[in-house]
Amino acid sequence: MIRMKKTSTDVQFTPYEISFCLYDIERTSLWKQAIEDVVKKGDIVVDAGAGTGILGVFAALDEAKHVYSIELQPRFCRLIKNLADKNGVGNKLTVINADASTVEIPGKIDVVICELLCTGQFFEPEVQVINHLRKFFKPTTRIIPNKIESHIQLLDAHEIIYGVRIDTDSRSILMADDEPVSTTELYNVIDLTKPVKPYVDTVVTVRARKTRIADAVVITSRANLTDSIVTKQTKFLYNPEIIYLKKPVNLIKGKLYEVHIKYPYGCDTLDAEIVIRPKK
Ligand SMILES: C[S@@+](CC[C@H](N)C(=O)[O-])C[C@H]1O[C@@H](n2cnc3c(N)ncnc32)[C@H](O)[C@@H]1O
Repeated sequence: MIRMKKTSTDVQFTPYEISFCLYDIERTSLWKQAIEDVVKKGDIVVDAGAGTGILGVFAALDEAKHVYSIELQPRFCRLIKNLADKNGVGNKLTVINADASTVEIPGKIDVVICELLCTGQFFEPEVQVINHLRKFFKPTTRIIPNKIESHIQLLDAHEIIYGVRIDTDSRSILMADDEPVSTTELYNVIDLTKPVKPYVDTVVTVRARKTRIADAVVITSRANLTDSIVTKQTKFLYNPEIIYLKKPVNLIKGKLYEVHIKYPYGCDTLDAEIVIRPKK
């Protein structure tokens, strides 16, 4: 059964996390370049999930006519307002303290910027937010990012650390002893230019590279900010997500295995259903 979340985001971001985003120079520079390529003179821009506000400020400093920065947390709204004022664009940036998956925008949107990205599109409501904002789109509205792709690979994961068995949660870091044991396959493509169904429910086939146990999967993602600017893993964004299997499998080198993957976008990794079966 696919469990849908009632709210758009159950994850509260801390000041520590949005600061990490801001000072991830590789990530934020790529977004700046994409925003400068996409935003044109006179555009109405929405920055959904604005955090520190940096992406909306890039648009306002560029050619946007007006920017609406939507942010759930009141503390961050104050930061966004200060950032816009200090950079001389306070008059063309409006901060809206709201849930971007239900917010009302006064008019139509030319460009949506939405960095609610997370590996596998777990935890964050990118899809729900873009699906909602579609009602304010024109036929020409541009979206940053416009496509997200995710890959999966089976892993013999390292789980004894400090002499303790730690395999009850997912983790966003690869350990030196994590051993990839299958091919890596594309399992999900989210085309944000069209309405997107709110969940993943798919089967991909991988080939075992070793005769060895698979007790986890590693998920990696990348997003097209524009057709030519692609963001993969940076310091903070798109770290690999290692998810332990509820039922590990003993692989035989060269054999094919089906990976059944089912979860609603934005859910916790603990709620993903990932099942491995030998391919018949
Ligand atoms: C990953 S941070 C990105 C911050 C910023 N856009 C950037 O790229 O630096 C996500 C931000 O979106 C906010 N957020 C999460 N869900 C939201 C929602 N449904 N509506 C509005 N803001 C949301 C969080 O509070 C957080 O500040």
